[in-house]
Amino acid sequence: MSSNIEKRIEELREEIRFHDYNYYILTEPKIPDEQYDKLYKELENLESEYPELITPDSPTQRVGSDLTKVFKPVQHKIPMLSLSNTYSEDELFDFDRRVREGIGNINEVEYIAELKIDGVSVSIRYENYNLVTAATRGDGTVGEEITNNVKTIRSVPLRLNRIKNSKYDLSKIEVRGEIFMELDAFKKFNKDREEKGEKTFANPRNSTAGTLKLQDPKLVAQRPLDLFIYFLFSENNQIETQSESLELIKQLGLKVNPNYKICKNINEVLEFCKVWEEKREELPYEIDGVVVKVNSVKYQRNLGSIAKSPRWAVAYKFRAKQAETTLNKIFWQVGRTGTLTPVADLEPVFLAGSTISRATLHNIEEIERKDIREGDYVIIEKGGDVIPKVVQVITEKRGKDSVKIVPPQNCPVCNSKLIRPDGEVAIYCENNTCPAQVKGKIEHFASRGAMDIEGLGKAIIDQFVEFNFLKSYADIYDLHKHKNELIALERFGELSINNLISAIEESKNRPFEKVLFALGIRFVGAGAAQKLARHFKNIDNLLKASEEDIENIHEIGPSISVSIKKFFATSDNLEIVNRLRKAGLKFAVESTGETSEALKDLTFVLTGTLEKFTRDEAKEMIQQKGGKVTGSVSKNTSYLVVGENAGSKLEKAEKLGIKILTEDEFLSFIESAK
Ligand code: IVH
Repeated sequence: MSSNIEKRIEELREEIRFHDYNYYILTEPKIPDEQYDKLYKELENLESEYPELITPDSPTQRVGSDLTKVFKPVQHKIPMLSLSNTYSEDELFDFDRRVREGIGNINEVEYIAELKIDGVSVSIRYENYNLVTAATRGDGTVGEEITNNVKTIRSVPLRLNRIKNSKYDLSKIEVRGEIFMELDAFKKFNKDREEKGEKTFANPRNSTAGTLKLQDPKLVAQRPLDLFIYFLFSENNQIETQSESLELIKQLGLKVNPNYKICKNINEVLEFCKVWEEKREELPYEIDGVVVKVNSVKYQRNLGSIAKSPRWAVAYKFRAKQAETTLNKIFWQVGRTGTLTPVADLEPVFLAGSTISRATLHNIEEIERKDIREGDYVIIEKGGDVIPKVVQVITEKRGKDSVKIVPPQNCPVCNSKLIRPDGEVAIYCENNTCPAQVKGKIEHFASRGAMDIEGLGKAIIDQFVEFNFLKSYADIYDLHKHKNELIALERFGELSINNLISAIEESKNRPFEKVLFALGIRFVGAGAAQKLARHFKNIDNLLKASEEDIENIHEIGPSISVSIKKFFATSDNLEIVNRLRKAGLKFAVESTGETSEALKDLTFVLTGTLEKFTRDEAKEMIQQKGGKVTGSVSKNTSYLVVGENAGSKLEKAEKLGIKILTEDEFLSFIESAK
């Protein structure tokens, strides 16, 4: 093969990188699109003719064709901290005082103020100027590898510029930043989804987070992701200031948000915050505040961090967006566990991208504290994607005949007497047969994360409960006995009932952990159900377990154990469980059968003293997902799982460059392997 071809390929790559930089980072394209496409096509053609010349940093290699089966755990070299928030001038001045005291009582500290981009944080490693891995924040210590998805973002260079005459060695670096979607691009993307009948996203941040967890990089490449980098860590030396880091990041060819300012003191910072609080709407992307950082890295080191937040930086959060409207009525919603939640029915008002007609009032104490009444003019607020809330009543506008809200005495649905336990703010309906609770419990049972019964949604459940076909979720598995009566109901045809009955039958394959979650035991969410199922293996062991046995499971606390014991102490619940058992639902984990292929071709070795699970448990978890466990480390080993006091196996694995997983990393790895 001629070296001319190699040379041409390299030339094309250089040229394409240059134009990518102009287009995606500087947003100043230097050539027309057709000319760019021509260069790209030429490179693609040469690479397909000479595939041996393809390198991972080639611009053609952004979008991989392999699905990401598992988002592997990545231990961050330095933890990804989060920021503590300040909401007022005073809090910002307090921060400044703590900083100055921490450094040694100096009068003024130089800060750098940056916009706080409302997106999803990412950490990217470059070695020898080539992108090697990208990871999510995760819990700050261990994140998930999303390299293939991040590589599809056009403003992320696969190869960095080498900086001439730099005093720093940047051959091994980690950069961090925020992935986001511009508002217009997000709106267009959501509209397209709506037209196709697909689920829409509430805001650009959710949409970004959802996109990054897609398994197919081709789909990710079609979504309008972008990235600003705000942090640089070099393994080989310490950069002196944050402002210098930002300059270096730019020179490396990465994208830095241009709206930052070096501030001589906290007053200048505050000025910057005020300016951007006003101007935020002018930006093409969403920001939710300003990040204030001590500029000197030496000072940053002196100050250190507490728990998960640095003492040298803080987020100045903007006030949530507010609107005024009237509160027409307060009604009480009965949840599946019988808790009553007051909800405000509002005169519809447009706020931060959507029309709001409901707001939660949380509980009676909240209503009393804010003295919220029907007919009041109120200020409502929406921060991020949280449910809107009523922040304040405009009492001056209140009419003369307005009356205070009295908590209901009887359930608005079944009329039974309500209770309010001493010391609790919640009001409960204790009638297990209250239609609102019954409906709520059945809805939860049939929902996506639980038994996932296709076609058994809210509207149908409401009707079946009203017509007495369903009194509890156990009745779902007897519905087939009433097939003809169901078909006779208005709005259902034979086909839809047949489909529903097959979906119900199919739901019997759900694993034990889903069944346990579906039971709707208070405080037992999907995560807790999974831990309980894995630990106790079957329902009989769980029934026999004491509160203490249950609490001994990592991350299971007393509220869960008490609630489980209470649930199974009720004879109605036991009877329902027995009926479900007879119907053939799974009340034990399966060691064979329900396996997946997620860990196919992966071989694990376990070593050291394991504390979070036994060796057998780990083995079972691996095998259930199609992985293998062997006794000794070799070059064929994919992962070594290490406990305390690991010895020669660890040494050998390190020599062979085999990936090492701590117990926590292993658990998140198994969890994410789908
Ligand atoms: S600095 C210790 N700078 O805000 C330093 N964070 O809790 C921590 N964010 O999710 C991060 N823009 O990803 C920093 N200019 C900026 C930022 C920023 C957005 C995000 C960050 C994290 C959250 C902080």
